[in-house]
Amino acid sequence: MDISDRLRQLEQAAKGELSGAESADLLEQIRVRYLGKKGELTAVLRGLKDLSVDERKTIGGLANRIKTDLEQLIVERREDLTAVSSKDAAPDYTLPGRPCYFGHRHLITIVMDEIIGIFQRMGFEIADGPEIESDYYNFGALNFPPDHPARDEQDTFYVEGGLLLRTHTSPVQVREFEKRTPPVKIIAPGRVFRNEAVSARHYCVFHQVEGFYVDTRVTFGDLKGALEAFCFEFFQEGVKLRFRPSFFPFTEPSAEVDVQCFFCGGKGCPLCKYEGWLEILGCGMIDPAVFTAVGYDNDKYTGYAFGMGVERIAQLKYQVNDIRLVYDNDIRFIRQFR
Ligand code: DAH
Repeated sequence: MDISDRLRQLEQAAKGELSGAESADLLEQIRVRYLGKKGELTAVLRGLKDLSVDERKTIGGLANRIKTDLEQLIVERREDLTAVSSKDAAPDYTLPGRPCYFGHRHLITIVMDEIIGIFQRMGFEIADGPEIESDYYNFGALNFPPDHPARDEQDTFYVEGGLLLRTHTSPVQVREFEKRTPPVKIIAPGRVFRNEAVSARHYCVFHQVEGFYVDTRVTFGDLKGALEAFCFEFFQEGVKLRFRPSFFPFTEPSAEVDVQCFFCGGKGCPLCKYEGWLEILGCGMIDPAVFTAVGYDNDKYTGYAFGMGVERIAQLKYQVNDIRLVYDNDIRFIRQFR
């Protein structure tokens, strides 16, 4: 028998055996028998060197083709066998189940919804405004003088076309006043931006809820009543409030509001930095300059406004000591608040 016949015979035999092999062990045995170091096909390949150049070309080509075919076949058979064995394996119903986590609202959304809910029940409508604002709405109409430090690039992100990212939700006051005639009683929740160094207390993005009420004869007493009602619901029934005189260009008089530390009851603790009080918002009676800018009659109308930082009061209520946690999206943090 000449060498090419011998090769074809080996090929047939090997293929027959391979197609019948029902286990990985058997496959391996067949591979070794034909293609291993002492395998039958290997022996033929080794003998090629004794042939003439012409024979070597044709027979060598044939032998190599057979070798590659068989190797390929072995790989395929092996894949078939493992696929079958895992498919046939019965599921193990005694294995513990995989934990399945449900999505839920983020801490900031939870607190935002809570704040909105409280004010809605007090008769406030909801409005929003653009996050990209003009200088006029963010500063000018709110009575910020041209050289006010908040206009500095160190505090404000400017974008192309003379626009900026709003640094507070107060511009929504101006936009709503322009559209409506009093009475207006609105809260405006939203995202604000400040060009500040990020730290445990400051982040470049955060949320505020703005509130404002304009009508004939709105008083500072109305403001105090509304904020006290809010704090009773949000923090604790009966919690004490303190109005400290302050300044904002768009309110006169202005105040900052502290609640008595609900953690230590005002005795002093790490949460309130041993002050007994926690600052929660800014507020005041809307400055006549704002009414003039929007065309409201200062002799007819008065109004109050307030603005609170959502992260700030969320941190107080849930005792989160670093604002960056709120934005890191670490699932171990997020899951604590549902
Ligand atoms: N816009 C102020 C800020 O971002 C907060 C504020 C203070 C809002 C007093 C008001 C207000 O409506 O009356 O710091």
